[in-house]
Amino acid sequence: MAWLGKALCFWFFPGGPAWGKYNWLTKRASSNAIPGPKGFPIVGSMNLMNNMAHHKLCAAAKSFGAKRLMAFSMGETRAIITCNPDVAKEILNSSVFADRPVKESAYSLMFNRAIGFAPYGVYWRTLRRIAATHLFCPKQISSTEGQRLDIASQMVSIIAFAGESSPKYHLGSSNPETEELSQLVEEGYDLLGKLNWFDHLPWLGGLDIQKIRRRCYELVPRVNKFVNKIIQEHKLRIGTKNYDFVDVLLSLNGPDRLSENDMIAVLWEMIFRGTDTVAVLIEWILARMVLHPEIQSRVQAELDEVVGKSRPLTESDVQSMVYLPAVVKEVLRLHPPGPLLSWARLAITDTTVDGHHVPSGTTAMVNMWAITRDPEVWVDPLKFMPERFASKEGPDVEFSVLGSDLRLSPFGSGRRSCPGKTLGLATVSFWVGTLLHEFKWVPSDHKNPVDLGEVLRLSCEMANPLKVKVHPRLR
Ligand code: HEM
Repeated sequence: MAWLGKALCFWFFPGGPAWGKYNWLTKRASSNAIPGPKGFPIVGSMNLMNNMAHHKLCAAAKSFGAKRLMAFSMGETRAIITCNPDVAKEILNSSVFADRPVKESAYSLMFNRAIGFAPYGVYWRTLRRIAATHLFCPKQISSTEGQRLDIASQMVSIIAFAGESSPKYHLGSSNPETEELSQLVEEGYDLLGKLNWFDHLPWLGGLDIQKIRRRCYELVPRVNKFVNKIIQEHKLRIGTKNYDFVDVLLSLNGPDRLSENDMIAVLWEMIFRGTDTVAVLIEWILARMVLHPEIQSRVQAELDEVVGKSRPLTESDVQSMVYLPAVVKEVLRLHPPGPLLSWARLAITDTTVDGHHVPSGTTAMVNMWAITRDPEVWVDPLKFMPERFASKEGPDVEFSVLGSDLRLSPFGSGRRSCPGKTLGLATVSFWVGTLLHEFKWVPSDHKNPVDLGEVLRLSCEMANPLKVKVHPRLR
């Protein structure tokens, strides 16, 4: 009974039960409390984190007048979220928020030994150093240009062939290995993208109501076997000219040398982060090109001017283009693959955000989707207008999306910002450029118009996958 009474008292506090409990334990005055929804007793506002969390959190922030900073509770987890670029900068660039909240599925799937979920400390710093100096340095990115070119020409041949013979295509041949990989990734996405009640209601203890723990335990040995096989194969090939991430990790010595288990975790994470974000973004860009044929023609005119029609696009061509990068930025603005910046941050110590006290152990999020659609931040925010990043007179022609300006920062910002951002952007721009150079993209038929509906899994995907027809442009 006393327990129930306490739970109700905590619940009455702005931001709900987790904030109420903290204030009761620390006896803090509630005068400067961060505004936010109470949610329900005990579970707080866990419902906000289910299905399209970015929409729900944005609506809640508006209704509480808390766009700058809103507090809410996910069970026993205190959380804050901002829809404001200045406050986002304050959070993401602060060393206090350099950690990630513990997520049971991420730990079970070994991601605590990879960059994204490694606790802030020596091991994480070592991984970031390896990433910056070996994996994502300009030399390594340009040395893998040939591999991206190969994949681009494979895509072109498959789409050209499918356009003639069948309405559907699958990239690459399907064999037991690719089948297994796609199952591993699919299962991993599902487990990592799920809101796990145990993360926020620790008293659920041994109960695995959602079966997340069991599925993680079943997945890990399969991942270990799959990635370990890739490592062993790489050990046997000598003098290869395709020097990839695995070769780089195997070549490291001294303090940078990782154990094989840690290598598996790092490579597994790269497969994850490198595939879904890039694929999802390409699909959104192509969807927008089909919806806005005049913009598609303008990109193609630029491609024809820079490349001509007699040879394929190269990555260096992209560097002399203005309109294609503007289209990519505009799609990142309206459809950021991580609308809540993928993974949250965790306060390592007590701190102050936007004049409010934020205790250590608080989870912090940025609603990038809300920022990029805010009329106080962007002119005509819902209008698809790449010109805003392309016209010489426009204020945003030199706009960097790499984290310095939080009005559009789809790769995050600060110490834990995305280490793969340059590679990701280069890959997406080159592949989209190639696909638009080679083909004209049109709606498949009037029964299947492009539907911009979203579904938020690990990334924000198109709810109804894109269906299109293509017409070759060059031959
Ligand atoms: C369009 C492509 C991509 C987008 C939109 C994207 C977005 C993001 C975002 C929003 C974060 C969290 C940043 C933060 O907390 O401030 C992140 C982290 C991360 N990303 Fe990316 N990413 C992309 C491509 C890639 C690629 C290609 C790789 C690697 C192959 C990669 C690897 C990572 C890793 C390892 C982290 C964790 C960093 C850490 O915690 O220190 N990403 N990404």
